[in-house]
Formats: sequence, C-alpha cells, structure tokens
Amino acid sequence: MANKELDAVTGVETTGHVWDGDIRELNKPLPRWWLYVLYASIVWSIGYWIVYPAWPTIDGYTRGVLGYSQRNVLANDIASAKASQARFLEAIAAKPVDEIKNDPDLMEFVLRGGAAQFGNNCAPCHGKGAQGFKGYPNLNDDDWLWSGSFDGIEKTIRSGIRSGNPDGHDSAMPRFGLDQVLTNAQISDVAEFVLSLSGGGTDAEAKTRGAAIFTEQCAACHGAEGKGTAEMGAPNLADGIWLYGGRKADVEESVRTGRGGVMPAWEGKLDPITIKMLSVYVHSLGGGK
Ligand code: HEC
Ligand code: HEC
Repeated sequence: MANKELDAVTGVETTGHVWDGDIRELNKPLPRWWLYVLYASIVWSIGYWIVYPAWPTIDGYTRGVLGYSQRNVLANDIASAKASQARFLEAIAAKPVDEIKNDPDLMEFVLRGGAAQFGNNCAPCHGKGAQGFKGYPNLNDDDWLWSGSFDGIEKTIRSGIRSGNPDGHDSAMPRFGLDQVLTNAQISDVAEFVLSLSGGGTDAEAKTRGAAIFTEQCAACHGAEGKGTAEMGAPNLADGIWLYGGRKADVEESVRTGRGGVMPAWEGKLDPITIKMLSVYVHSLGGGK
C-alpha cells in the first residue's frame, strides 16, 4: 500500500497513478445508489433468464418456466377472436335471411363483414361503393339485369355470369354485326329505335325501320316494349340506365358485338358463409327486391 498516499487538496486516498508528474488519480468508490441499481439489475436478469426465453442453445433457445412465446400469444388472440366470431358465423349459416335482418347485432356483423369482403373481391370490377363502371353494373340502384332478390343475388354470386360454371347465368346476346346477322345500316336503324325508347333518337324513318327489326330480332329477349327480361339477363332498354353507354355509337357497338360481360363464379373461391354475407350486403345496398 506504499503508493496510497492522501491527496493534499481533497484529503482523499489516491490510486497511485500519476500523469505529467503531478496529476494524481483519486480513489473514489462508486456511489452506493449506483451499485445497488447494478446489483438489482443482475438479480432481475437472472430471474428473467429463468422465467422467460433467453439464451440461444445449439438446437433452439432456453424456453423459460413460463413457456412464453409471441407466437403463442398471437395464436391465443386469433383463437379468441375466432371464438367470438364463431357465434355469429354459426347463426349466419343457420338462419334464413329474414331472421338475420331482424337481429341487429348479427346484421351489423354481416354488413361489416360483407363490406370488407366486397372491398377485397368485388370492388376491382364493381367499384368501392358498388357504383359500377361501364360494363360492370351498379349494384346500388334498383335496376337488375338478372335478379335483385336475395336468392337471385346469391345465385349470381355463387355461379357467376357467362363464367363457365354449369349453374351460372349463361344466355348471351347474339353478335348481330360480327356474325353478319344485320348490316351496318340495319344496326344503325335499330339503334335509332332503341334510343327512342328512352326519349332519344332523331331520325323518324330510321326509327320506323328499326322498330320492325326490333320486333323480329330483339323482342324475344328485351321484350316487345324493350323493358328487358331478367331470365335472359337482357337489360331494360327503355329506362335510360345504360350498362355500356347510351350514345348511338355505344348502342350500335352493343348490337354489333353482343358484349357478353363476364362475372366470375365465387363458389369454391369463397366459403358459403362469406357468399351469404356478401349477398345480404349487396341486397341491402339499396335496390334489393
Ligand atoms: C372480373 C370482374 C367482376 C368481379 C371481380 C365481380 N363481378 Fe359482379 N359482375 C361483373 C359483370 C361484368 C357483371 C355483369 C354481367 C352481365 O353483363 O350480365 C356482374 C354482375 C353482377 C351481379 C348481377 C347484377 C344484376 O343486375 O343482376 C351481381 C349481384 C354481382 N355482379 C355481384 C358481385 C359480387 C358480390 C362480387 C364479389 C364477390 C362481384 N360481383 C365480383 C363483373 C365482376
Ligand atoms: C338472346 C337474347 C338477346 C337478343 C336476341 C338481343 N339481346 Fe340485347 N342484350 C341481351 C343481353 C343478355 C344483354 C346484356 C349483355 C351484357 O350484359 O354483357 C343485352 C344488351 C343489350 C344492349 C346494351 C344495353 C346497355 O344497357 O348498355 C343493347 C343496346 C341491346 N342489347 C340491344 C339489342 C338489340 C337492338 C337487339 C336486336 C337487334 C338485341 N339486343 C337482341 C340479350 C339479347
């Protein structure tokens, strides 16, 4: 202990380290509070190693006595969310639509779920608010190509339209122009007549010629007055609501090509409960019959 002399100014023991001949290092102990925090941390960490997963091992890691893992926590969260949904999902599967609509809690669950599924699966074609685009029908209005009843909507969603599914809707309008059933002049005439059904069209003679063509070629599907028939998916041509546009060129194009819009079948892609939720959702959008 020969080196340990006292520092003349502070009266504190020095460590014996000297710099530049005159600067001495004082031997000051660590503050007590600091040491206690350090010891407490060491005790805490040992406890932590015992209780929680901590150390890597050759084939994994030490699990800790609690067996905690974030994967288990997530799995438990999912399981409890599923359990609380199961009650609703079972009720949706079991109850007829009228009963679902009379149960406000269940209906809220169905509409939220239906809206989410619509956003994921249907919005790319029908639009986020189901407002539709050219060739993709608006599902908010009361104008239905095939059916606006709950059962009809469910069938459409399940089996699709011209989807290749054997249960799907598959009637299609002939390609009057492409298959040379009508000449361009006849197509122009019948388009004049079609436009006149909703107050358009300007050429009276063409309209008269077109009316005769319409009776012969079109009325079987669109009805004598052009009001459409749902069994054929043939739209009402007299209501001023157009799937493919109401300019003369649009109508001529529809007659020329037959259009033939395709809606995929969802059976097999979505489970029956999801399809039922979507059907209730679409049915509730406004025009449900
Ligand atoms: C790939 C595009 C596409 C997707 C995706 C799509 N649809 Fe359609 N949907 C169509 C087309 C096109 C029609 C119109 C077919 C026709 O011309 O008759 C249609 C028609 C419908 C109809 C019939 C409307 C009527 O007036 O009778 C309903 C109901 C419908 N879709 C619901 C849905 C739902 C619900 C989904 C999501 C699960 C969906 N669609 C996804 C393209 C699509
Ligand atoms: C076999 C039944 C059938 C016949 C016959 C038929 N149509 Fe159609 N028509 C349809 C169907 C189905 C659609 C819907 C096509 C689609 O959704 O892609 C349609 C769509 C249309 C449209 C588009 C309507 C819109 O809202 O944009 C026009 C216009 C039209 N038809 C006119 C005619 C005219 C004119 C004739 C006669 C020359 C005719 N159709 C004959 C079944 C028929």
